[in-house]
Amino acid sequence: MKKVLITGALGQIGTDLSEALVERLGTDNVISCYHRKKPEVMDGSRGLYEHLDVTKPGELDALMEKYQPDTIVHMASLLSATAEKKPLMAWDINMNGLIQVLEAGRKYNALVLNPSSIAVFGPDSPKDNTPQDTILRPTSIYGVTKVAGELLSDYYFTKYQVDTRGLRYPGLISYKTLPGGGTTDYAVDIYFQAIQKGCYTCYLKEDTSIDMMYMPDAIKATIDLMDADPSTLKHRNAFNVSAMAFTPAEIAASIKKFMPDFTINYEIDPERQSIADSWPNSIDDTAAREEWGWKNDFDLDAMTKDMLENLKKILK
Ligand code: SER
Repeated sequence: MKKVLITGALGQIGTDLSEALVERLGTDNVISCYHRKKPEVMDGSRGLYEHLDVTKPGELDALMEKYQPDTIVHMASLLSATAEKKPLMAWDINMNGLIQVLEAGRKYNALVLNPSSIAVFGPDSPKDNTPQDTILRPTSIYGVTKVAGELLSDYYFTKYQVDTRGLRYPGLISYKTLPGGGTTDYAVDIYFQAIQKGCYTCYLKEDTSIDMMYMPDAIKATIDLMDADPSTLKHRNAFNVSAMAFTPAEIAASIKKFMPDFTINYEIDPERQSIADSWPNSIDDTAAREEWGWKNDFDLDAMTKDMLENLKKILK
């Protein structure tokens, strides 16, 4: 990996990933693409900025010609809750965007990292310690696009030898960029509200367990998978990766260890609750650990400590 083009680069994962890649590869070797107009603050720490609507044929090709990156990381996507409200738009962005990226990988001989999600699983998948290879029958449109995306990525690998790789990210938590429209967003919002208000109203039930990961671990997983020797990869699209699984009651208890007066209450959103109920309680990531050495650094309390320390600085 010498030069990387990132779609959705100003989104939740793209923000942290572009910074990490600039540190490693230098500003001129990270092309941060996003579909909205250039943000006012966009210094070299996030790479070179380019406008891109990845669903429009030709736009990505022009950037591939201009910069000739050897790697594309495709982070542009609608998340689960927004996708459920706008299924056609979700299909357009998540699928038509992906096929443009895979075609660019084929035409310009670039590695393609296509993010997947725990949303590929559904009510028929085993709930606890969900295996790498199991039933994938999701009930959300977001999950449908993620399963189709995994299959399409594998197809481009077997048919055209495009070096496609992917991770099934769990819910991701970061203090730098807020997620938008995901079912797991509560686990980010709860830390912001803890600092700003000392209390949080949660839209999921207190005992809803979902797999989660702190952003520094997610960035490490992303970069390690892109660096992995292809001959060690038995799986490709996409690897289970796990760091922790918790319920709203458990994250609240973790925050209370550092902020004893923090309180939580519940007002359930039926749509997001139903999506969360269709996902696993916890994930088995043995394949990622064995095939490319995945290992998380943060558990729940270590993440809580770091989130609260950083947000205290940012929000005051
Ligand atoms: N965090 C995502 C969501 O909630 C899952 O991939 O939609």
